[in-house]
Amino acid sequence: MIKIVQVTDPHIGATADYRLAGVDTRRTFHEVMEQVRTEEPEVLLMTGDNAADYSEGAYEHFFAVMQTFEQPHYWIPGNHDKVSAAESAAGGKPFQRTLDLGDWLIVMLDSVIPRSPNGELGSEELNTLENVLEQSEHSNVIICLHHHPVNINCTWLDTQRVADADEFFELVDRFPSVKAIFWGHIHQEFNSRHGEVLLHSCPSTCIQFLTDSDEFALDSRSPGYRVIELNDDGSINTYVRRVEIPDMGIDIGCLGYE
Ligand SMILES: [Fe+2]
Repeated sequence: MIKIVQVTDPHIGATADYRLAGVDTRRTFHEVMEQVRTEEPEVLLMTGDNAADYSEGAYEHFFAVMQTFEQPHYWIPGNHDKVSAAESAAGGKPFQRTLDLGDWLIVMLDSVIPRSPNGELGSEELNTLENVLEQSEHSNVIICLHHHPVNINCTWLDTQRVADADEFFELVDRFPSVKAIFWGHIHQEFNSRHGEVLLHSCPSTCIQFLTDSDEFALDSRSPGYRVIELNDDGSINTYVRRVEIPDMGIDIGCLGYE
């Protein structure tokens, strides 16, 4: 069994005084990561919005925290990220697209449209995925991306869904090795299936969005992360863990953010 922890949407600010809807996102990221540490995962997957504002200060803090972990970590960009700024803060280490874990392959996709909250893979990313899947001899594949490829019953977020999700799933359907798809962005837990393929999102390490909401609304639920256990027989166990953080100071009536 290979144990992975997915962490998403920490929205780390450029400076320590940054607050998102009243929340100190550096503090909540730190608290969540301390609980993640006790899970003793083999790999950490960070599925985007690592920064709140594309800034180098945010990435420097992010990677400083990640360097306190012995385990390798891998990240994908979200709509609040800038790949070049993250790569430079990572000492030039490039955004890695695949991770070989023996029988399991993890493919990391970029679903970001520059200067937009909406998701789209585009022909280049879909071609990359097709090439990886065609060349892979792995029994099992997991795909990670930032945006949701299916509607999640939040009208305002569903407009941001991966625009070319139909093409994405046509591709996925050609490769039975694809066992699961994991994403961030929606700041809430979501669990579903596409045929035999597991579909899961993950809570943010900071603010949560209200489930089943037509308009932007915050939820008072605690931050969290997702544990993903890859079994030798090709099956997956996965579940969300919440992290109770006292006095987060969330402005629950906040009507949105940039
Ligand atoms: Fe986010």
